[in-house]
Amino acid sequence: MKFETIAIHDGSLPEPGTGAVSVPIYQSTTFYQDGIGKPRAFEYSRSGNPTRAAWENAIAKVENGRYGLAYASGSAATLGTLQPLLLPGDEVIAGNDTYGGTYRIFEKILRPYRIRTNYVNADNLAEFASAITPRTKLIWVETPSNPLLKLIDLAALAEIARKNRILLAVDNTFATPYFQQPLNLGADIVIHSTTKYIGGHSDAVGGAAVTNLEEVYQKLKFYQNAAGAVPGPFDSWLFLRGVKTLKVRMETHAANALAIARFLEEHPAVGRVYYPGLPSHPQHALAARQMSGFGGMVSLVLKGCLGAVERFAAKTQLFLLAESLGGIESLLCYPAQMTHASVPPQERARRGIGDDLIRLSVGIENIDDLLADLRQALTD
Ligand SMILES: Cc1ncc(COP(=O)(O)O)c(C=O)c1O
Repeated sequence: MKFETIAIHDGSLPEPGTGAVSVPIYQSTTFYQDGIGKPRAFEYSRSGNPTRAAWENAIAKVENGRYGLAYASGSAATLGTLQPLLLPGDEVIAGNDTYGGTYRIFEKILRPYRIRTNYVNADNLAEFASAITPRTKLIWVETPSNPLLKLIDLAALAEIARKNRILLAVDNTFATPYFQQPLNLGADIVIHSTTKYIGGHSDAVGGAAVTNLEEVYQKLKFYQNAAGAVPGPFDSWLFLRGVKTLKVRMETHAANALAIARFLEEHPAVGRVYYPGLPSHPQHALAARQMSGFGGMVSLVLKGCLGAVERFAAKTQLFLLAESLGGIESLLCYPAQMTHASVPPQERARRGIGDDLIRLSVGIENIDDLLADLRQALTD
């Protein structure tokens, strides 16, 4: 079956009791037991809930994985993946272009427990390979990355990880499983901020992890229950609903993003455009091979630095100045002070996140309206 059929049918079969085709929201914390030691399928909703179970099944199916786990946010999914797999003295290798909150987890939560992260250029395979030490347990990448939309060759990186007996975890938030399935390319774990494209409507914060490895799943599952950062039944239901329309939304996000990237690339007020779908993107060929579409995120550098950025952000009307991404409405973000404010200024500069960088999450509005909005915002 193709992606959209799986997303609609495979994740959530009609509910057996009533035949409801939309999985019911089981808004219950606890479940009646038939006797001492005789629970039915569910006992307590931190450990498991029928709506959440349907959502966990659906996210596993669309990532073509065996086991899915849902979390209260993408950050909870990140920590809920890293912490149970790492011990003091272990090392991680991470691309140097990730969501700022992920960097914060590496530096402010894991490092004090002597779990050290070494950063390498997010698009340089050789640097990942040469950063491996006997202590390396896990490689963490975003591809395309946030906010500079760098790519890494996942099949090649998975091969390096496999040869060195290291786990490869991929944050697939930007690409979504519709455009890229990292497990198929050899990754061990996929994580998502489902707050973004999978939820798709900017109305629920959530996260997910998917793996094929039983041992990894058991560790993550134990931690998920013990730490308890799980989504409630209603948010689980929103993500179940979101995943069903992911295909149609992603097609429009990507078509709009390509048109906008092309427009910006030609505009005299714009210094640089980052979008994997542009032939000028250094890894355009890899993007075309590894992904089935280029996604809805576009970053750009404006000529004229902070003043130009402030004027642009003040003038856009459809692109709303806000954190987050992946919703149906277009958003504009200033990474230096918003999504990547938790990365110290010197580290930001080292990573190439300048004070002139803007990140656009291109929505699914009419493209002519979006282009007109950007055109007027770029006009003095
Ligand atoms: C790529 C990526 N991963 C993880 C996260 C964290 O997700 P959440 O905000 O749902 O905790 C974000 C948030 O922006 C993100 O962009």
